Amino acid sequence: MTSGLRRRYLPILAGAGAIGWLLLWQAPELQAGSAAFVPGEEMPGGEATSRRSAKNANAFSHASGNAGFDREFDFKIGNGIFRKLWVSAPASTNSSDGLGPLYNARACQRCHLKDGRGHPPENLSDNAVSMLLRVGIPLSGDKPPVKPDPVYGGQIQDFAIQGHKPEARIELRYEEFAVELSGGETVMLRRPKIELADLAYGAMHPDVRLSARIANQMIGLGLLEAISAPDILANADPEDADGDGISGRPNMVMNLEAGMAEPGRFGWKAGQPTVRQQSAAAFSGDMGLSTSLITPGAGDCTEPQAACLQAKNGADPAEGNVEVPDEMLDLVAFYARNLAVPKRSDAQSDQVLAGKALFSSAGCAACHVPSFRTLDSRDVAPEQKGQTIWPYTDLLLHDMGDGLADGLPEGQALGREWRTAPLWGIGATEIVSGHTLFLHDGRARNLTEAILWHGGEAQAARDAFAAMTPKERADLIAFVSSL
Ligand code: HEC
Ligand code: HEC
Repeated sequence: MTSGLRRRYLPILAGAGAIGWLLLWQAPELQAGSAAFVPGEEMPGGEATSRRSAKNANAFSHASGNAGFDREFDFKIGNGIFRKLWVSAPASTNSSDGLGPLYNARACQRCHLKDGRGHPPENLSDNAVSMLLRVGIPLSGDKPPVKPDPVYGGQIQDFAIQGHKPEARIELRYEEFAVELSGGETVMLRRPKIELADLAYGAMHPDVRLSARIANQMIGLGLLEAISAPDILANADPEDADGDGISGRPNMVMNLEAGMAEPGRFGWKAGQPTVRQQSAAAFSGDMGLSTSLITPGAGDCTEPQAACLQAKNGADPAEGNVEVPDEMLDLVAFYARNLAVPKRSDAQSDQVLAGKALFSSAGCAACHVPSFRTLDSRDVAPEQKGQTIWPYTDLLLHDMGDGLADGLPEGQALGREWRTAPLWGIGATEIVSGHTLFLHDGRARNLTEAILWHGGEAQAARDAFAAMTPKERADLIAFVSSL
């Protein structure tokens, strides 16, 4: 944590001043372990927070609460593109063809189910829709650069259009082990082991590393994009100059449109700088569809996969010679930017406020930075502009230890580094997605397991959690669930 972070806390603390004094004035037992409620924190997306109910399966599917009527219309069209089922070329519906030849899913929505997060396959016969397997060969240890597998490319596509073979089947097996917590509680954690079955194009390179990732929840992305780069960098402390054990550094990645490196913000390793570029990467890698940003029509097919490269693609000269014209890419990016964060339903109960204090004192907030103010400039869209938001992330990379390491660098991120996951909306996961599987590969079966997997820079925070009394742990979980 740096002084930049502390500077950001000041206005928040100042805003809480009046309530802080009230608390001081109350009986001493009310002060212990309590943290003041900050007016506005129940609206994590500021004015862009959803105005609709957070208590049903559609909680993540609403437009920014401050979107005007015509903007809601664009949002609905974008939603249509997000759900659209693509087909192989050539097809009578020219504007929906070009899928594959290799792909992971036929629509964005197939992975980002209900605009929420994906999950790993439930058993060995289940397919891995809503989870991806990235592959690559680091050229030196677990550091960048990484080259793709010479045959399978940068990602395993476990589906293919007719006449082509899917690359492989992804199998996850788990090994369980016990972790002891204070108060005599024992928790079982499960460690995934990834295997590939039915490799259709021969052996993989022996040095290849595999990284399983479930689809992220889709809320609040435009707001994360509207945080200024200097505000992100203010929290970075790559050499841990302040000696608090927490460093944090940006994943500087290429913005293909701007032609320069910028802090990555999206994906589990912050590998993509903008929603538009992340969406173009999804069209290409996950569906084999070209855009003006990523032009090959056959997506992740490689030279040895000759039939795949030669297959007819859906590019249309009338639409800029790409399969997904800019207008469509823009609408889907607009949709993704404007999926609203739900309102917090319980931000002020005694238990939640007790948990909030523990979240700070255990050191969680050093990475899961509670609040930012988005840019208030002309180039930011009206919905996202000048909002006080509560995403609980610093968008920086942290070394999370060997337990979570995938050994596969991405951009500048090392094999042990991950982007601090935003925690807003996390309490609605169960109602939206029907499960509570957390972390990049969905290995954690609930919030407690997710916290216990924290290592590396987060080891001290994890140990503080394990050392809490069962009641304190329950309070902390109640707070995280309230976000
Ligand atoms: C095969 C499943 C799959 C499909 C299809 C898919 N995604 Fe994703 N999406 C993912 C996964 C997995 C991640 C995390 C990727 C990573 O960490 O590298 C992700 C991440 C994202 C993110 C970043 C979210 C965040 O919080 O950082 C956005 C935005 C996104 N996808 C948009 C799209 C769009 C738009 C489409 C359709 C064009 C799409 N996705 C299609 C699986 C999918
Ligand atoms: C050193 C930085 C750091 C600290 C400290 C930290 N976290 Fe995290 N947290 C992360 C990162 C990085 C991830 C993503 C890890 C992954 O997916 O492998 C994460 C993921 C999570 C998740 C899962 C989110 C999801 O979408 O799946 C939860 C819940 C969480 N943290 C809660 C906590 C709590 C509670 C604490 C304090 C006890 C804490 N974290 C401390 C960096 C940190």
